[in-house]
Amino acid sequence: MSKSDVLVLGSINMDISLKVNQLPRIGETILSEGVDYQLGGKGSNQAVAAYKISQGTDFIACVGEDSFGQTAIRQLGQVGLPTDTIMMLKGAHTGMATVLKIQGDNSIVVANGANKVANEQTRQAIDQKLPGKRVLLTQLETNFSDLEYALRKAKGLKVINILNPAPYHPIVNDLLPYVDIVTPNETEFENIIGRKLTTREEFKAAMVDWVQQNDTQLILTKGSEGSLTVIEGQVHMFPAINVDVVDTTGAGDTFNGILASLVARGEGLEKAIRFATVGASLSTEGYGPQAAMPGLDQIIERLESPQEKS
Ligand code: RIB
Repeated sequence: MSKSDVLVLGSINMDISLKVNQLPRIGETILSEGVDYQLGGKGSNQAVAAYKISQGTDFIACVGEDSFGQTAIRQLGQVGLPTDTIMMLKGAHTGMATVLKIQGDNSIVVANGANKVANEQTRQAIDQKLPGKRVLLTQLETNFSDLEYALRKAKGLKVINILNPAPYHPIVNDLLPYVDIVTPNETEFENIIGRKLTTREEFKAAMVDWVQQNDTQLILTKGSEGSLTVIEGQVHMFPAINVDVVDTTGAGDTFNGILASLVARGEGLEKAIRFATVGASLSTEGYGPQAAMPGLDQIIERLESPQEKS
């Protein structure tokens, strides 16, 4: 198996994280006890999570020619990720996210900046890095024409395409024909099918219907409950584990990164989802999206612990 088996095409943001007790109302100013600058962005979070499992992971992204961009490249390099295809674009700012952290959950506003700028260097990087990969992992925080270019090319090369449709955009319906595995959360799934679902049974029925009509594997992530998929017309549930939650930012990204790595290693889908679900839970035990992303050993250790086996 190739050492370098996952390619992540995605965003880099500097997360400006503020702890608050409530969300501000319109016209209101509220106080936070402090501010943390944490490397984030769905692409960078997913690339780090994948790298922790598969050291061969490559990452294509864009930042601005500014200090946040330099910080991002330095920090990702320190993790070990190759940074040769992180482009610094003139005239654009590095993506930024304001993350309001509230009681273990969060609300996020993103200014995409360089992440959304179409550029020839990104396409050259896709042409250079994609051949030989097993899996391409993408989300919707990047430039859509470059994203479509990558998915089309990957499909032609028989690379497995995983799309995390976040943040939701209707473009997802145009991209689905190239996608092998799609990983929405509940709201994103409701947006994809165009209707609201309330009960657990409604979700399950809608998942089965959707899978019958689409040639794409569906994995629904449900935060602290775990994740669901449809296998041979039946919905299978993969429960999350009990953890001491500090911060849920990036838990979904951790899920996607681990899933991509395990699929690339040729593991069966059920095992990949089980490990990704446990890994996502473990990632919430640290403060910041990338602080507590686990390696394979930590996931196995937790799965083999008496509390999970009982
Ligand atoms: O999924 C979490 C991420 O969403 C944050 O790191 C933030 O940058 C936004 O992209």
